[in-house]
Amino acid sequence: MKILITGAKGMLAQAVKAKFEKENEVICTDVAELDITDENAVIEYVKEIKPDYIMNCAAYTAVDNAEDNEPLADKINGDGPGNLAKAAKIVDATLVHISTDYVFSGDLELEKSYTEDDKVGPVTAYGRTKLHGEEAVKNNTDKYYIFRTAWLYGEGKNFIRTMTGLGKTHDEVKVVMDQHGSPTYTEDLTNIIYQAVKKNIPYGVYHSTNQGFTTWYEFTQEFFKMQDINCKITPVTSEEFKSKAHRPANSQLSKDKLLNLGIEIPTWQDAVKRYLEVENNI
Ligand SMILES: NC(=O)c1ccc[n+]([C@@H]2O[C@H](COP(=O)([O-])OP(=O)(O)OC[C@H]3O[C@@H](n4cnc5c(N)ncnc54)[C@H](OP(=O)(O)O)[C@@H]3O)[C@@H](O)[C@H]2O)c1
Repeated sequence: MKILITGAKGMLAQAVKAKFEKENEVICTDVAELDITDENAVIEYVKEIKPDYIMNCAAYTAVDNAEDNEPLADKINGDGPGNLAKAAKIVDATLVHISTDYVFSGDLELEKSYTEDDKVGPVTAYGRTKLHGEEAVKNNTDKYYIFRTAWLYGEGKNFIRTMTGLGKTHDEVKVVMDQHGSPTYTEDLTNIIYQAVKKNIPYGVYHSTNQGFTTWYEFTQEFFKMQDINCKITPVTSEEFKSKAHRPANSQLSKDKLLNLGIEIPTWQDAVKRYLEVENNI
């Protein structure tokens, strides 16, 4: 199989490349090689390469900055996937696109988690642009997978690495306790995509995070404990923490749709353990 991966320097792209290149011909493009906002360039490139799959890992992911740069974020997160979908349709490729839990408002009761059929309603600029991307994909091709993920970490700069660094050098860190979701290891999201492709599951939207739900505060407690870091973690509210984007309070995603198709998804605690083994070379 021939696979085109966009946004090649990104965190998820690295994991997707490593997994799929073992068994497939993989072509990776960064923004300099293929800018997904350039419709003509995307169509010409895809017509030349003729991939079986296009895996779009390119995105504008700076959630707070997007509040002041929504037009640029929208070009990348909204128009870009639309261009890839048009190109995919021309060569009959399947488009794998990555979206986010932030397409939801987050005002769901905490006992519940969002299903793929629940009403969307983003409350951040980033979320609006990603929702535009989902619509652009659906409007331009039928052969697509949209995997909505959340709180991603993997190789490179990420929340665990940043907080671990702070925990080792400070007596106290403050972490938000009122946002609920699922931390997701790039390896595990990649494995979900891999299984979905292998099993040829029906096209559509899938919630694709690690299993189980937590808060940023409890998540930090867990990986500090696993690394014997004795730093005090003070829980704070989103109101106290103050960030530009108003993030959803509950963006818990139900994985039942994938699980019912036999897709295996590890828990977030198991994922953190495996990630730390790699990160700390244990
Ligand atoms: N990170 C998270 O917590 C999270 C949560 C939910 C969903 N997601 C989604 O998961 C996917 C992967 O995220 P990630 O964290 O791996 O992203 P990332 O590390 O920020 O990588 C995104 C990549 O896209 C590239 N890019 C930006 N504009 C581009 C363009 N016009 N054409 C081609 N490439 C372009 C970036 O290049 P430059 O760096 O050179 O600009 C970067 O290498 C994204 O769709 C994201 O929205 C992420």
